[in-house]
Amino acid sequence: MTTLNFEFFYEWVLSNYKINLNAYKEKQLQRRIGTIMKQSGATTLEEYATILSVDETLKKQFLDYITINVTEFFRNKDLFDNFELMINTHLSTKFNSLKIWSAACSIGAEPYSLAMIVKKNNIKLQQKILATDIDLTILDRAKKGYFRENEIKNVSLVDKNTYFDFMDGYYTIQNDIKNKVQFKQHDLVQGRYEQNFHVIVCRNVTIYFKNDVKDEIYLKMADSLVTGGLLFTGATETIYQPEKYGFKKIASFIYEKVE
Ligand SMILES: C[S@@+](CC[C@H](N)C(=O)[O-])C[C@H]1O[C@@H](n2cnc3c(N)ncnc32)[C@H](O)[C@@H]1O
Repeated sequence: MTTLNFEFFYEWVLSNYKINLNAYKEKQLQRRIGTIMKQSGATTLEEYATILSVDETLKKQFLDYITINVTEFFRNKDLFDNFELMINTHLSTKFNSLKIWSAACSIGAEPYSLAMIVKKNNIKLQQKILATDIDLTILDRAKKGYFRENEIKNVSLVDKNTYFDFMDGYYTIQNDIKNKVQFKQHDLVQGRYEQNFHVIVCRNVTIYFKNDVKDEIYLKMADSLVTGGLLFTGATETIYQPEKYGFKKIASFIYEKVE
């Protein structure tokens, strides 16, 4: 078996697609690149790059495949319920209105879950919930706001009936929830971070990054939060030394920005 030239390919992806693959854990990413390369019929990464530069469909398929978009509403429902409680006990008591960011939001299930929490708890927003992802294709889908049954399995029957319309096999989110969210492309590795958030939800994406990159992301997120603001991470994304970044753990996977 020939060794694939990942150094060449990473540089090629950076200069053509502006994605820094060096930030991601190597083993899993390289296995995925190898798999998708083979599906295209290419046997080397040089050949694969040539194919990607002329074939828009394969380019889109490559970008979709490496950015793993699995998601659902209220992912880890018990953690989300607790997060809702923390918003009420830790934030709504201290701040009149909130600025919220769902980072790496995939097809929108996460920011729309937050919008439902905002609506139900009568939370005043400073601006629409910012929902960002690196992947433009999924952001397009997120804006449309349609979901499969399995993606909304954690939504109660009452909420399904209240906030969704069912058509042609899909559940479409209604406008009063949709209008609370603004989608934008943003790269957590290379992008500039907005400031003054009260809530950052960043779940199930840092697991893909190398440790030094993860460190930098948490430092930038702490800097982006107001003192007392909350970071909510994924169910496998414990921050082991939160004080290193300026956080204090207040519940499972919930960290408060401290002075
Ligand atoms: C597994 S999904 C997580 C979705 C959602 N946060 C959740 O927990 O259900 C990971 C998302 O991270 C996005 N992503 C990957 N690399 C990124 C980067 N460098 N910057 C921003 N988003 C990125 C992917 O496009 C994908 O939508």
